[in-house]
Amino acid sequence: MIDRQIFGGQLIEIDEVDSTNLRAQELLKNQKVVEGAVIASNFQTNGRGQIGTSWFAEKGQNLLFSLVLFPSQLPLERQFYLSKVIAVGIVTFIHEIGIPCAKIKWPNDIYVGSKKVCGVLIENNLRGYRIESSIVGVGLNVNQEDFGIFGESASSLKLLLGQDFNRNGLRSMLLLQLAYWYNMLMKGDYSEIDSMYHQNLLYSNQWAEFEINNRRLLRKVIEVNPQGLLCLESETGQIETYGMKQLKFII
Ligand code: BTN
Repeated sequence: MIDRQIFGGQLIEIDEVDSTNLRAQELLKNQKVVEGAVIASNFQTNGRGQIGTSWFAEKGQNLLFSLVLFPSQLPLERQFYLSKVIAVGIVTFIHEIGIPCAKIKWPNDIYVGSKKVCGVLIENNLRGYRIESSIVGVGLNVNQEDFGIFGESASSLKLLLGQDFNRNGLRSMLLLQLAYWYNMLMKGDYSEIDSMYHQNLLYSNQWAEFEINNRRLLRKVIEVNPQGLLCLESETGQIETYGMKQLKFII
């Protein structure tokens, strides 16, 4: 096991690309990437989001990158821990730069109040019962000020902190945090990861409204189970588990 993982040692910068995740996948096929490689771009023409959505970001304003990992020692039944460490790394970094109220919205979005500032798309390539490689795509809103029709639900570090950021400097800081938490995962320190994830999870131990089967229902967030499903308590005290497509947060 590598004792201290460095991310971004191999940095591939592409001015414009369809999607950094897609490009990472192509590079992996040609075996041209080492663990911790970062494929970064100023603009994506086909930026991809979770559950088949698109990710739009203004040219040259944000962080758009994919990190390539080979977490082959991570048991498949614990694959959601990769999502957890990435979310914890990003939220810790956002706290560090001066936004202590940033939260993880399950599974791995980062929100400040009612607005999303960062999205993550993790694509795992499996071989048998192992994760052979994983592409961690990160879209962090940095200097963008206008989100058009998404203005109600999206924000950026600049809008929140009132200053412009040097994107390369931010990316280096963020990669340090991601490496720290990925190393924690490689050491198998699951309890520390669980504790940080739940400490920063939006609505953790709180009652909140969710849209479930087209109805607005009050539920308490209990935990995210090892399979990555969200466990909620109903008003009658029953524990229910949900996948991403089964519920919507009302934020
Ligand atoms: C989401 O919240 O829906 C996930 C968004 C992930 C966006 C990033 S931007 C860099 C990487 N390349 C992509 O095509 N998507 C991810």
